Amino acid sequence: MTDHIPRDFIDLLLNRVEIVDLIDSRVTLRKKTGSNFFACCPFHNEKNPSFSVSQTKQFYYCFGCGAHGNAIDFLMQYDRLNFPEAIDTLAKQVGMEVPKQAMRNPVKSAQQQTLYELLEQVAKFFQTQIRQHNQANRVVNYLKQRGISGNIAKDFEIGFAPSSWDTLLQAFPEHKQQLFDAGMLIKKDDGGFYDRFRDRIMFPIRDRRGRIIGFGGRIIDQGEPKYLNSPETTIFQKGHELYGLYQTLQAHKQLHRILVVEGYMDVIALFQYDINYAVATLGTATSTSHVERLFRHTSEIIFCFDGDQAGRSAAWRALQITLPLMHDGVQVRFMFLPDGEDPDSLVRKEEKNAFEKQIQDALPIADFFFQTLATQTDISSTDGRARYVKLASDLLKNLPAGIFQQMMLEELARKVRVDVKQLQSPTPPSQPKTQAPSVSRSRVRPPSALRLAITLLIQQPSLAQHIDEPLPDLEINGYALLKKIFELVKERPELTTGALLEYWRGEPEEAHLAKLAHTEHMIPEKGLIQEFQGLIKTFHKSVHEKTIETLLSKAAITGLSNEERLRLSELINTKNQISSLE
Ligand code: GTP
Ligand code: MN
Repeated sequence: MTDHIPRDFIDLLLNRVEIVDLIDSRVTLRKKTGSNFFACCPFHNEKNPSFSVSQTKQFYYCFGCGAHGNAIDFLMQYDRLNFPEAIDTLAKQVGMEVPKQAMRNPVKSAQQQTLYELLEQVAKFFQTQIRQHNQANRVVNYLKQRGISGNIAKDFEIGFAPSSWDTLLQAFPEHKQQLFDAGMLIKKDDGGFYDRFRDRIMFPIRDRRGRIIGFGGRIIDQGEPKYLNSPETTIFQKGHELYGLYQTLQAHKQLHRILVVEGYMDVIALFQYDINYAVATLGTATSTSHVERLFRHTSEIIFCFDGDQAGRSAAWRALQITLPLMHDGVQVRFMFLPDGEDPDSLVRKEEKNAFEKQIQDALPIADFFFQTLATQTDISSTDGRARYVKLASDLLKNLPAGIFQQMMLEELARKVRVDVKQLQSPTPPSQPKTQAPSVSRSRVRPPSALRLAITLLIQQPSLAQHIDEPLPDLEINGYALLKKIFELVKERPELTTGALLEYWRGEPEEAHLAKLAHTEHMIPEKGLIQEFQGLIKTFHKSVHEKTIETLLSKAAITGLSNEERLRLSELINTKNQISSLE
């Protein structure tokens, strides 16, 4: 996505925008220390301000929930914009025009625009069918029998797709191809089309910005399949979308929690009983992208599942998806329903208060975690305990570093009666002990000199101007990243931390770099340049030493050419010079 908007433009834009003013116009900031401003975090609920905005870094970070980013990220998170929209808004603010070639694939987005508009008309059409069609009585009776009020049917724009094969074709004769592109028609072998949804109750699915992207259709009474969803199209990706999210966001300025349920009917019944913070996945399992999306809008998710074995397994899968996203400040709980009930039936039986009482009592993720593990192993035996520890720590490894991870490890230690320190170093003793696991756990953790160098440089890009030589070539994991940042800020000394991070949007290193961007490095301001120069010197030194080693071992085995011998003695000389300077 970012490829289409020229880098230079984004750099310039971030250079013109003042993040402090931008945020201050939405969240009142208080001046605190140095160039940092503080406020109560707009992304989670809190009483004491832990949201900080750095003027020098042009970067914000919340110590409570981990929300962070530059001016673009702030608009994406706070105003819930997508990337191009955030760019547009910022550009307008500072009076810049987004370059023409930046219009991402204009043909495609114009097409998409008409698809949204067309689906909007289709939804209206289905809604009128519920009143006008000669089968309407049957539909209305069914909805009544299910307890759906007229108001809620209107709020959720419930409609009816009549039973003939060509209702939409007749209603929108000019738009065959577009209806097909939007998944509303199916192509016949002879090239003709027929309606995908026939004799179904229709639920329009809106994305979080309110655009209709597809439909769910339920059979009236009995039949197979019970539910039919729009297929994946250019505007509808099932695995990311949540039914009811738009309505939930509309109903609240700030959301304290979101309830995740299984079905369309569940969402609708909950809203009817004034539990207007429920969403459903669209017949798919909960995905990482669902959970990420939800945490963008709330700090607490409650998953609601059947109490049976299938429900518990689905809940366990949701837990596994969620663990890596458990940043400090978020909460996840699991609610299990009595046998044979779903949220739809239960809320109709119990009404709002009793249902919300059950939400209050939902199991915290930690309890569900340890309870489930305990059913898998017997911790009264030593073997069982070892297995329990293994299972638990393998899962807990996926947690982001932070207070929650620490608490889970402590709880595990308590349960199996071992010292928490033993649990914290699951790596074999030959590897260096580390405290806070890095974000990219799968890779070898970069040596601390490298980590520190990246931290300093990303926090204070001007440090690069104090290094005259290019960085040496080194084959350490992660070193290429330092080199890339270094070369970038050498070339563009005006980049701030926030603008620099923009280069990694959507890249695997993004989260890691963002973390380093706010890490407390404890090096006093005065010693920064010297520290950074020292680090760079160690990299030069280690290249030297590596080459010396290689040449020495070659000398011992095959001997050296004259050229190599000369190079070796040069290297040894320089090494001695470097050492004597220290
Ligand atoms: P009602 O019977 O109308 O109350 O629906 P429900 O939501 O209680 O049904 P169920 O628990 O069986 O299904 C939950 C969700 O799974 C539905 O809302 C659909 O999204 C999805 N689903 C159920 N049946 C089907 C099906 O046959 N095909 C597809 N694609 N999805 C289904
Ligand atoms: Mn149901």
